[in-house]
Order: sequence, then C-alpha cells, then structure tokens
Amino acid sequence: MDVLEEAIRLEKQGRDIVHLEVGEPDFPTPDIVVDAGIRALREGHTRYTHSLGHPKLREAVASFYRKTYGVDVSSSRVIVTVGSSGAMLLAFATLLDPGTEVLMSDPHYACYPNFVSSFGALPVQIRIHEEDGFLLDAEAVRKRVGPQTRALVLNSPANPTGTRVMSAAETIPSQHPIVPSQAGRADNLRIIRVRVRN
Ligand SMILES: Cc1ncc(COP(=O)(O)O)c(C=O)c1O
Repeated sequence: MDVLEEAIRLEKQGRDIVHLEVGEPDFPTPDIVVDAGIRALREGHTRYTHSLGHPKLREAVASFYRKTYGVDVSSSRVIVTVGSSGAMLLAFATLLDPGTEVLMSDPHYACYPNFVSSFGALPVQIRIHEEDGFLLDAEAVRKRVGPQTRALVLNSPANPTGTRVMSAAETIPSQHPIVPSQAGRADNLRIIRVRVRN
C-alpha cells in the first residue's frame, strides 16, 4: 500500500505511472453491479443484516460452489465478510495461538505475514520457484511442518504469481502423511484455500 500511495502522489504531480502494485481490475465496475448497488440502497437495504451475511447471499454462494466445484457445502457454513482480508483474519483468529506457525509460499500476498503476526503467531515462508510453476513443493512443505504448525495457506489464483492450485492433492500428494486425501485438515494442520475474485 505504501507503493500505491507513493504512485498516487506522483500521479497527482502529473507523472504517468504504470501500476504494478495492488491487484485491482483494470476496468470500471460493470453497470449491472453499480445499478444493483444503487437499487438496493434506494429500496432501503441499508440496515444490519444477519451477522453471518444475508441468508440469500449465503445460499447463492453455497449454490455457486455446488455447481462450479461440486462441493456440497451448506449455506449455514458460509460466512460473508467484507473482502478476503476480513475472512483471513477471522480464519487466523480461530486457528492461531501465540507461538503457533502458518506455512505460506514465498512470494505470497504481502499482508499475510502481518495477519499471522497480529495473533502472536509466526509466518513460515517456503520459497517457490518459476521452474516449478510457482507451486509449493510437497517435500519442502513437509520439512517445515512441526508441532506448532496450524495452517498452510494455498492461494489460488495466487498473488503475486498467478499460479492456480486446482486441489490440495496437486500441491501435496494424497499419500503424503500430513494431509488426509479426502479432507483439508489433519490433526494439527488446517489448509486455508484463498480464492480472490476481483
Ligand atoms: C491473496 C489475496 N488475499 C487478500 C487480498 C485482499 O483482498 P480484500 O481487498 O478483498 O481484502 C488480496 C487482494 O489482492 C489478495 O490477492
């Protein structure tokens, strides 16, 4: 964000800046979205909703996951947050205690180490390489899993590399001891998959 703020400052001085810092769509918000937002406000949808998110939206999210990924997740398990950062902070708040560890790729989305540190936990970074398609290497992950490990962040499409992880098994083979094949959790390890839809 510091780089963005400096870029905006230079733009105000008339400099022509190519933005490579934040991940934002390079097109205006489509009219259909703008119109729906304005209509909702005019119709008086300006009050608190259910604390976990509007029930219809949660049902729509569950239905999207069913149709798109074949994942049968009940809408009661869907929580709507203001952006991905809110979701990640809630997930980390649930999982982490001081001194615990979260594995993540290096490079990673810039805010994740700060999110983890804010709960007194430690970000453990695992170097990824272009020649491996910027995918995490199972052996490298295994070496970093210890008694304090609480989560592995799989970001897809990844920021900043753009790499897509289609399944946990693609990164960590199912026969691997730390992750059972049918679920994204082991005794002391949760996998946090992050999909950011811009
Ligand atoms: C991987 C990742 N996580 C979180 C965020 C932050 O998203 P939000 O602005 O929705 O909080 C971004 C934004 O680009 C991202 O790429």
